[in-house]
Amino acid sequence: MVNGAPLIIKLLESTQGKGVVLAETNKAAESVINAFKSVQTNILVQEFIKEANGQDIRCFVVNGKVVASMQRQAQKGGFRANIHQGGAASLVKINPEERKLAVKSAKVLNLDVAGVDIIRSNRGPLLLEVNSSPGLEGIENTTGMDIANVMIETIERKLKYHI
Ligand SMILES: Nc1ncnc2c1ncn2[C@@H]1O[C@H](COP(=O)(O)OP(=O)(O)O)[C@@H](O)[C@H]1O
Ligand SMILES: [Mg+2]
Repeated sequence: MVNGAPLIIKLLESTQGKGVVLAETNKAAESVINAFKSVQTNILVQEFIKEANGQDIRCFVVNGKVVASMQRQAQKGGFRANIHQGGAASLVKINPEERKLAVKSAKVLNLDVAGVDIIRSNRGPLLLEVNSSPGLEGIENTTGMDIANVMIETIERKLKYHI
């Protein structure tokens, strides 16, 4: 389904990029997949998006709107853009298609707050994952925004709460 190597193998129960493996040849993919199968863990096999160049985009969605976004760049020689893998974050301007994808992803999962990870491919933005309790530190430091306050104000508005 993913047209052979290079391909990505992911452990389902894993975060911070720890369980994401790049298999560069079919032989490597076969042995990694067999190893995971032998310990009976659930995996996901994906096409490797090479043209992303180790970058991904985190969109922070609150109440149906992208309130902030950042780009993350993997360390030199790496492909995982996670901050925990040494990825560097910077400001990014997302396009309308990316904004639509982020908003729709949060909506489909019925999430008021979501961290939506998108990767830029030759055929447009692709959805990597949706986090239901995204961290605030990276996005606040990168954008200089007080995202926690945006979340609180949204809740207050929804509850029609006035001091
Ligand atoms: N299919 C892919 N092609 C290219 N890079 C990928 C792919 N999947 C993941 N990555 C890279 O690996 C990182 C971690 O993958 P992700 O699926 O978000 O797992 P985690 O839940 O551990 O963060 C992503 O941020 C991205 O930089
Ligand atoms: Mg991720």
